[in-house]
Amino acid sequence: MPFPIDRPRRLRQSPAMRDLVRETHLQPSNFIFPLFIVEGEGIRKEIGAMPGNYQMSIDETVKECAVIKALGVGGVILFGIPKHKDEDATGAYDEDGIVQRAIRAIKREVPGLLVITDVCNCEYTSHGHCGKVVDGDVDNDISLEWLAAAAVTHARAGADMVAPSDMMDGRVAAIRDSLDEAGFSKTPIMAYAAKFASSYYGPFREAAESTPQFGDRRTYQMDPANAREAMKEMALDLEEGADILMVKPALPYLDIIRQAYDRFDVPIAAYQVSGEFSQIMAAARLGWIDGDRMMMESLTSIKRAGASIILTYFAKDASKLLS
Ligand code: PBG
Ligand code: ZN
Repeated sequence: MPFPIDRPRRLRQSPAMRDLVRETHLQPSNFIFPLFIVEGEGIRKEIGAMPGNYQMSIDETVKECAVIKALGVGGVILFGIPKHKDEDATGAYDEDGIVQRAIRAIKREVPGLLVITDVCNCEYTSHGHCGKVVDGDVDNDISLEWLAAAAVTHARAGADMVAPSDMMDGRVAAIRDSLDEAGFSKTPIMAYAAKFASSYYGPFREAAESTPQFGDRRTYQMDPANAREAMKEMALDLEEGADILMVKPALPYLDIIRQAYDRFDVPIAAYQVSGEFSQIMAAARLGWIDGDRMMMESLTSIKRAGASIILTYFAKDASKLLS
């Protein structure tokens, strides 16, 4: 029934009316906050292009986690930055590695906070690639062994969920098998299922000190042009035993999030990555945009597209605004 019978503006007249008809609601429990953990004590070093985000030693990480829990944020995802890196990423699957120790400390000091771990090798290899380099390219099947071993050490340390971010073929199955064999059949896997080879990861690589020393990640991460291939990647991860499917980055890939939500009956997560955060922060600092409003609008868009879980560097700020 067209105008003048139908007047959509009737339902936009007042804040109360707009509240009543709002379709998408953000909650602090939707958010996961990424943390970068370094060796040492008392360290809290701000990341240049990511204001308000720090590389932190374990003691500082624990303090930060108490704040995050008090805000009602859904959880944290841990990235380890080891002192020692080598060709075989040995720090990634060391029972006493940086992430493994951090998990134990957080679980002891901040019980009840959901701890997720990023499972990848790029922070631990001397060359910065996500797996074993053989003849100039990452060897898929050797890398699977490292990933599976790392996931088991995370679970043993007390991680609530593991999140493989490497994009090797078959990693979800390899991790599921190893977890089950080690007695962790209850540990869920949140797969970075559709992870694109993106320029939006720039600031993260400074934060995690994981820039590849040669080449790029295009033989394992996806071509940004491909949506149907993303559906294939997600279907495979689901078949291999993924419990949650993630799309990454988020805002430039809302179409992928929506298609994933329509097709797959599992929770969909999206990672609002470092470059998405940095561009909003930078423009806000220049006074060119309203940073708080753009933060909330971007998060609302990601949730509206179908992601009920959002990994975001805004987790704390957005939760503060919501409460
Ligand atoms: C590691 C990993 C990356 C991110 C999450 N896990 C970087 C990469 O693949 O180069 C990016 C996160 C961000 O940009 O915030 N595989
Ligand atoms: Zn990686």
